[in-house]
Amino acid sequence: MENILITGGAGYIGSHTAVALVEAGYQPIIVDDFSNSEKNVLEGLSKITGLSIPCYEGDCNDRSLLEKIFSEHALTGVIHFAAYKAVGESTQKPLKYYGNNIFSLVALLETMEKFGVENLVFSSSCTVYGQPDELPVKESTPRKVAESPYGNTKKICEDILVDQVKSEAKLAAIALRYFNPIGAHPSSHIGELPLGVPSNLVPFVTQTGVGIRKELTVFGDDYNTPDGSCVRDYIHVMDLAEAHVKAISYLRGKNAPFYDLFNVGTGTGNTVLEVIQAFEKVSKQALNYKIGPRRPGDVEKVWADTEKITRELDWHPKYTLEDSLRDSWNWQLALSKTPA
Ligand code: UD1
Repeated sequence: MENILITGGAGYIGSHTAVALVEAGYQPIIVDDFSNSEKNVLEGLSKITGLSIPCYEGDCNDRSLLEKIFSEHALTGVIHFAAYKAVGESTQKPLKYYGNNIFSLVALLETMEKFGVENLVFSSSCTVYGQPDELPVKESTPRKVAESPYGNTKKICEDILVDQVKSEAKLAAIALRYFNPIGAHPSSHIGELPLGVPSNLVPFVTQTGVGIRKELTVFGDDYNTPDGSCVRDYIHVMDLAEAHVKAISYLRGKNAPFYDLFNVGTGTGNTVLEVIQAFEKVSKQALNYKIGPRRPGDVEKVWADTEKITRELDWHPKYTLEDSLRDSWNWQLALSKTPA
């Protein structure tokens, strides 16, 4: 079996990708500092896969830890998720974000070079497009000035990969620009675990559904969209996980130096109010919500053009918006049953 290192593998997208890798016949190896994830994710992974996935606890800025992992396992590739991702916090503590997100990529690339590991899939974000001038947004659509230090770290990391490949380094890399990941593994053994009050829409919706939050505020209903609320492209986390498996498999057929990037979304935009309606349908209950003011920094509408990833990676999303919300809801219900 080929070994794939997953940095941030205990996190939301990383853990679901570990499952998809096992299903595709790869052996995942996790490194995670558990700064935004829980150890019991590993139990959820073993319930789903029947395997005990090797996990190293620590930070990707720790080169001695990276060297230990790379010397203990012959790796086919690395999927680099580990990063801080709270947009609001990044505006308060920019150095925390630049320090962690950028230096960890540099440490990882240097270690890969030292050990002759060529294949890398990097977690980027549709945040790099800002409010695009054309919709749906294509990979060739120009990036905009980042709205936050978090968004800027994603842009800078993409640029580091481009420069490294231009330098003829032995690196074959793909950046995946995620749209809005939601949902959970259909088994409800793993899912998203937001710390504190969620800032993302769907965890706030499901927490309101079970009564942890009193009321959801819809941030604005006066946008130029079908019902006035913002439009996003919500993608099931297992579809997103599958895109990583396709990307790593694609890289195995490429010779370094190589770089490419792909949007990962469904190709369909939905408004906040449509998400609420879909949630009410799958949960069979009304959601307590009110309309509030716009949230500063929000873009009005963005959704992906998925033609490139469909053509090049033969990737197709399988889950609908309702499927995604059903899995988010079942995960929330499972969490609510688990004693704290
Ligand atoms: C946000 C980040 C994006 C990041 C992504 C990671 C911003 C501006 N963008 O995306 O860079 O990659 O998270 O997951 O922060 N909404 C409500 N009420 C709520 C929460 C959200 O109406 O309580 C609305 C928002 O206005 C938005 C939509 O729901 O229209 C989705 O919001 P969210 O889940 O926070 O994702 P993004 O803002 O798209």
